Amino acid sequence: MKKVVLFASGGGSNAQAIIDYFKDSRKIEIVLILSNNPNAGVLERAKNSGIPGLSFNKFAFAKANSIHLLLQAINPDLIVLAGFLWKFPDFLVQDFEQKVINIHPALLPKYGGKGMYGIHVHTAVVAAGEQESGITIHYVNENYDEGAIIRQERCSVKPGETPQQVAAKVLELEHLYYPQTIESLLI
Ligand code: GAR
Repeated sequence: MKKVVLFASGGGSNAQAIIDYFKDSRKIEIVLILSNNPNAGVLERAKNSGIPGLSFNKFAFAKANSIHLLLQAINPDLIVLAGFLWKFPDFLVQDFEQKVINIHPALLPKYGGKGMYGIHVHTAVVAAGEQESGITIHYVNENYDEGAIIRQERCSVKPGETPQQVAAKVLELEHLYYPQTIESLLI
């Protein structure tokens, strides 16, 4: 079995899509869901799915502390960030080289970087009058949203559409393509 660890900060609809996709898999298992937010909906989803879920604070996330040691002990085949809003630390990027991926709700390299997350991204896309947006699945490196791109998928942005409407279209792409991409990287 290939082992996947998920990191998420919020409601976790992507985490849910991934959980559902691999629920009956004989090749890929979601072994742990980690969140920086003890009240994150994603931990409820973990519980409902029978997957261990754990929240952590800044201390536990520091080098040589509990999350680092836990990940070293698990030695996952892939670490998947799904709406994880803290910077992923450099020592973990180095320890798990080419094994950490993220999904971003826009077509990088546009609309990425610090502070560009969730609805802020879609607001910027609409304000700029873009005619398309989409998703970018990429490896995580030491800089926000700058790792090598694995896959991009697009959707239209029509005149008059709100950031919320664009967000809904983009989220649909995320749910469809993130699980598939995880599978293709592992099998
Ligand atoms: C997703 O749209 C994801 O792309 C975005 O947060 C949302 C989480 O939704 N991530 C970022 O903006 C990272 N920069 P979810 O909790 O329902 O999966």
